[in-house]
Amino acid sequence: MCMWEVVEERRTQMMRVLSEGADSAEQWAEIEQAASRLQSGGLVAFPTETVYGLGACAWNAEAIRQVFVCKGRPADNPLIVHLSHPSEISLFAAEIPASAVRLIDAFWPGPLTLILPKKPEVLDILTGGLDSVALRMPAHPVALALIEAAGPLVAPSANRSGRPSPTHPAHVRHDLGPEVMVIGHTPCAYGLESTVLDLTATPAILCRPGHLGAQQLSAVLGEPVVSMTSTLDGHAPRSPGMKYTHYSPSAEVRWADASVQPPSRTLWLVHSSVPTAVSEDIAVVDYAGEFARMARELYDRFRQADLEGRPAVWIEPLPLPPHDGVIAALFNRITKAIG
Ligand code: TXA
Ligand code: MG
Repeated sequence: MCMWEVVEERRTQMMRVLSEGADSAEQWAEIEQAASRLQSGGLVAFPTETVYGLGACAWNAEAIRQVFVCKGRPADNPLIVHLSHPSEISLFAAEIPASAVRLIDAFWPGPLTLILPKKPEVLDILTGGLDSVALRMPAHPVALALIEAAGPLVAPSANRSGRPSPTHPAHVRHDLGPEVMVIGHTPCAYGLESTVLDLTATPAILCRPGHLGAQQLSAVLGEPVVSMTSTLDGHAPRSPGMKYTHYSPSAEVRWADASVQPPSRTLWLVHSSVPTAVSEDIAVVDYAGEFARMARELYDRFRQADLEGRPAVWIEPLPLPPHDGVIAALFNRITKAIG
């Protein structure tokens, strides 16, 4: 089969959803309007399968500077370039190793970001001065159509830095205000950010866990993947972004302790054992072992706790390590929210 034929097929299938949808004409009009705004240097928030991203053209330094300002993001935290086709990788990456080809064939479009050595012309403001660049092809028809129309886009999560990532357009509006154009109307399917894998090192390094876990990646690579996602691994984080306090609401997030009474009005997330004999002002949400649903809703629950003025979010401790896939991603985001 030709290079990227499998990816192309998946992409075509995904885009069909847009053309066949009942509100297809309005959606395309919105995408065209968003693309022209991006091409004239503006910012547009758009949906992906993970979280909403705040897009700007990847070759426009001033627009990218505005992304950092709009998010209140530290300048040393590099951005991910979002592509609509794997052939665009060669615009940004100095080389495409065989490992990248295998992973792209298996997982793009999808929630996997690859770090590759960058070409000299990639803007420094985008990479935070690093000699590598992060690339991903999102699995969302609106994202793919927008990137195709506007060209490759940088897109950090569309939240204020330090806040939980947005999984719904209302989260974007809440954080970034009414001036930022938001397209798309639906919640994100995964709800946690993409897996970030550094292929500039051997063995490859998992910088940020996501739905795709180290085991799935190493099965495709045929070699191990090492995890360097936090100081909990005994290593310094590999991705600049992982050193900042992240994803935290104003409510205090902590692992639940069933031997203690939670503060009044706590939001308590459980997945296996529903607490009994708690006072009735405690809101308990039971995920009944559905960790993918817990991941999809986690950031929305954090935001809900703040909107309802709850003092605390308690989370039932996750199953014991070793973790992989969605449970590893949940563990990573929850421990970061705990701080
Ligand atoms: O799911 C996602 O990846 C979402 C959606 C919108 O695509 N985007 C997202 O972007 O989460 P952001 O900017 O919030 O997170 C990007 C992460 C940061 O932790 C950053 O440090 C890391 O990727 N990163 C970017 N470029 C890197 C590089 N060259 N080397 C190491 N880490 C890098
Ligand atoms: Mg982010």
